[in-house]
Amino acid sequence: MNLKEQINREGLPRHIAIIMDGNGRWAKKKGVERLFGHRNGVESVRQVVEAAGELGIEYLTLYAFSTENWRRPRSEIDGLMTLLTSTIANETRKLNKNNVRLLVIGNVTDLPNSVQKNLTQAMKTTSENTGLQLVLGLSYSGRWEITESVKQMCKDVRSGKLDPDGVDSCLLESYLTTSFMPDPELLIRTSGERRISNFMLWQLAYTELYFTPVLWPDYRKEHFYEAIIDYQRRERRFGKVDEKPRAFTVNN
Ligand code: FPP
Repeated sequence: MNLKEQINREGLPRHIAIIMDGNGRWAKKKGVERLFGHRNGVESVRQVVEAAGELGIEYLTLYAFSTENWRRPRSEIDGLMTLLTSTIANETRKLNKNNVRLLVIGNVTDLPNSVQKNLTQAMKTTSENTGLQLVLGLSYSGRWEITESVKQMCKDVRSGKLDPDGVDSCLLESYLTTSFMPDPELLIRTSGERRISNFMLWQLAYTELYFTPVLWPDYRKEHFYEAIIDYQRRERRFGKVDEKPRAFTVNN
């Protein structure tokens, strides 16, 4: 039986998040520029978007550019931004055809105008799509997001819109940039690193973590299926418990 057929369609995670890592090391191994690694990573993005869409996953979040990534050499940042712009422009038609909606989390105003313009256009074009919700983390970090949410809550307290006694975890969640989607049930990180690296710090509280040594540009649908199968095996281990740990997220 092939890997895809081993997936139990009844027990799919609603939301999968991926830290796409290893583009630089992939390029170094080949003795080519880091940007070449990022360019080859685009095919891996296509593969997971297609696989997630075909399986009927509701939300796929891809960590494409972190707040910390701004510290990289200017040439690499510029190359990544150009790649983002061209990829979004080239792929929007296909996203639309496959009923995929594009969304973004992060400090979008940090991004160059050309990227912002492209993103706005792509989000508008795909806004009616009801299939896979593809969420890109761009200039995003978990600490940035929590800080911004707390800042906004403080402003709402000051303006009298919010009573501090009414603050609980549900309310804080409603201030996060991710408030429109459920927390990820599964996080995948490629390249052998076993860290969260400031990604979705609040949302990953009960998420199953899956680490693979595969470098992002080598990541294919089969690797994605393997991660889901592994997740489903873990779910079965919790099978005897009535409520899954995620049920305790509220007010914890
Ligand atoms: C991490 O590898 C990868 C990134 C910071 C960028 C990911 C971007 C893409 C795959 C390009 C296009 C994406 C979309 C969504 C259109 P790294 O550079 O940190 O690798 P290293 O740890 O080996 O140096």
